[in-house]
Amino acid sequence: MWYNTKATEMLGIQYPIMQGPFGGNLSSVELVATVSNAGGLGGYGAYTLSPEEIIAVDKQIKAATNKPYNINLWVSDTDAENGTVTDEQYEQAKQLFKPYFDEAGIPLPAKPAPFKPRFENQVEVILDIRPKVFSFMFGVPSAEMLEQCRRLGIKTVGAATTLDEAIFLENAGVDMIIASGFEAGGHRPSFLASAESSTTGTFVLLQLIREKVKTPVIAAGGIANGKGVAAALALGASAAQIGTAFLATDESNALPIHRQMLFSDAAKYTTLSRAFTGRFGRGITSRVAREMLGKEKQFLPFPLQTTFMSPLRKAALEQEKWDMILFWGGQIAPILKHTKAKQLMQSLIEETTAYFDNLKA
Ligand SMILES: Cc1cc2nc3c(=O)[nH]c(=O)nc-3n(C[C@H](O)[C@H](O)[C@H](O)COP(=O)(O)O)c2cc1C
Repeated sequence: MWYNTKATEMLGIQYPIMQGPFGGNLSSVELVATVSNAGGLGGYGAYTLSPEEIIAVDKQIKAATNKPYNINLWVSDTDAENGTVTDEQYEQAKQLFKPYFDEAGIPLPAKPAPFKPRFENQVEVILDIRPKVFSFMFGVPSAEMLEQCRRLGIKTVGAATTLDEAIFLENAGVDMIIASGFEAGGHRPSFLASAESSTTGTFVLLQLIREKVKTPVIAAGGIANGKGVAAALALGASAAQIGTAFLATDESNALPIHRQMLFSDAAKYTTLSRAFTGRFGRGITSRVAREMLGKEKQFLPFPLQTTFMSPLRKAALEQEKWDMILFWGGQIAPILKHTKAKQLMQSLIEETTAYFDNLKA
């Protein structure tokens, strides 16, 4: 059957369908459990959580499903030198943001306190809670960490945006590689070259990686229905990872207006921008996203750009100024149909099955 792949065998799941983890508090226990209980692999994006919070979330997931699931972290979680910015950088960003803060009628924030990377402490927790799958982006954990995961039976999954990154991940010995195409919603997880120069589409990237790399590959980016899953499998993927379509379901932790936007006409247009966090990510085009293009020199490095963007987003939400917000989402949003994660899973399975059955008929 189409659903017996290297991924289903390795991860102990029924269908090669993975729900993409969402960082920034957009994942939910309910979504993870719904997807895992339906035979796929639910994923929780935990990069903003403290070790204690990860332990608490993990307990909730374990209570909601006895099936395999994935916990996701960011290996590199800052681009700020020594975690901070100069007074000059801060002043430049203040000038850039002043008109928007004036428009929203809120005060400009103070210079951010230095940011302390979180990955080293978070990753220790992974070894304690032992999810079936530990996926990561923006780099590769140390050889010792990968070895410890291997010993504990935790499958490791790294994200690549280029063939070079896939080869790097294979040489590090990860169990599976995500081919992260530029159609995808959220951040581009590039870690060797700049994200701006790593913009290959999912199906080209998948084929390039399959030519040169033996590690099983998961296709991510622009897949939202059974035909997309079938296409990924036909091109050699062992599984498909689906983000935007699950983000749009009621079970995700996205705000109702965010989910509504993903189903609206606005979702026809998306932008890759550093304006919202300091790292390159795709969301529905908004006025602020358009106006910030070309002003990257005044942005603060990840994640300190959020010093400005978070209060602005909060005020814009309160004032319903949607054009001041970037709602994360991928290029595939206009074909979305399902608002319930269980129905989305069922439909993905039925459509993929029908597609392969038709080929045999
Ligand atoms: C809002 C949002 C947040 C995301 N956060 C993460 C993350 O923290 N870690 C990660 O590995 N992938 C993250 N992703 C990528 C997804 O897990 C998935 O690979 C991607 O969305 C697939 O492409 P699609 O959006 O076209 O379906 C995020 C995607 C979105 C839309």
